Amino acid sequence: MSHRVLVVEDDLDIQGYCKTILESEGFAVDACDTAAEARRLFAANRPDLAVLDIGLPDGTGMDLMKEWHGFPGPKVPVLFLTARGDLKTRLECFQQGATDYVHKPFAAEELLARAKVHLQVKKSHEELIKRNYELELVARARQDMTDMIVHDLKAPLTAIKGTLELIHARGLISQDNYVSLLSNAGSAADFMLLMLNDMLDLAQAKAQGLKINPAFIDPSLLLKKIETLFAGRMKLTGASVTMRVAPGVEKVRADQNLLYRVLANLITNAMKAAPGAHPIEVDCGYNGVSARFVVSDRGPGVPDAEKKRIFEKYVTSGRKDSAMDTGTGIGLSFCHAAVLAHKGRIWVEDRPGGGSRFVFELPQSE
Ligand SMILES: Nc1ncnc2c1ncn2[C@@H]1O[C@H](COP(=O)(O)OP(=O)(O)OP(=O)(O)O)[C@@H](O)[C@H]1O
Ligand SMILES: [Mg+2]
Repeated sequence: MSHRVLVVEDDLDIQGYCKTILESEGFAVDACDTAAEARRLFAANRPDLAVLDIGLPDGTGMDLMKEWHGFPGPKVPVLFLTARGDLKTRLECFQQGATDYVHKPFAAEELLARAKVHLQVKKSHEELIKRNYELELVARARQDMTDMIVHDLKAPLTAIKGTLELIHARGLISQDNYVSLLSNAGSAADFMLLMLNDMLDLAQAKAQGLKINPAFIDPSLLLKKIETLFAGRMKLTGASVTMRVAPGVEKVRADQNLLYRVLANLITNAMKAAPGAHPIEVDCGYNGVSARFVVSDRGPGVPDAEKKRIFEKYVTSGRKDSAMDTGTGIGLSFCHAAVLAHKGRIWVEDRPGGGSRFVFELPQSE
């Protein structure tokens, strides 16, 4: 985009000369000979540089500059054209905020060279401001993230602390309750570990790509392990998770730890999406090329516009009316990174009859 220059000069020969020189360099030029017209042009088309005569029939260039520098936003650089070469006038120009000046008469090359330098400085300055603003946004997002993580870790930690306090008063609780309290505290600690590991792995994935350690896993055993992880929550909320492995699928080649955590994340989301006694289903199958896992819920579903975006880091629905109690937005981006590390793919689709189906496929060939 070409730069816009405003030339204010009441000597029409000099004004025309400036306009021709600047236009020959590709600048868009507005030119006028009075302070009143200069104000109008400045308001209509904010210039990137103003070239001002000091003495104008209805005011001074200095007053115009002071007025414009009082406006909010980045200051427009001002280059004065002056026949008065005395030191006092020059110094006054700078004291009032001028960027530069040129003596009349001047050579075309000098005006152009100075105009270009100041436009470049202005551009660099604006880029710095923009970059600074972007950095501030990133810093703010990081702080929000840290706040959310601290908040999310507090719930399971409080549960563990409560359990420890109850155990301290052991005589007051029955053996059955004692065992179930311990197992709930164990699940809470497991969830904290899952969350921390997701965060650490995501940081590693960003730096060098997520590393996988593939092995042949029995999917039925893996799903049993996951069932144990959620046993406490299911009891608490009344939710049910049905695990199904298609007949004949006896082994899946994958990183056991990552696969466990991808499924744990998807089931956690499904429980948040459809709280209470809603049924959640987890299916494992094989389509001849890839192992295919599907986690289905009867929650509110994911709007089409968000279907891709939710796999990005720190993206949550943020919808106040959402049934989904949103967290940090790390879970799905971890799932995405983990599935990609297996050269697989993950997506969400609408579930017939309502709800979502989170599907991922892990290719089984080497
Ligand atoms: N089963 C689901 N049904 C509806 N929306 C979902 C479901 N799973 C995820 N989402 C949407 O995707 C967003 C991102 O999910 P993600 O798991 O990344 O983050 P989160 O669950 O909010 O936080 P956490 O980092 O604790 O997992 C959620 O905030 C929610 O808006
Ligand atoms: Mg989640």
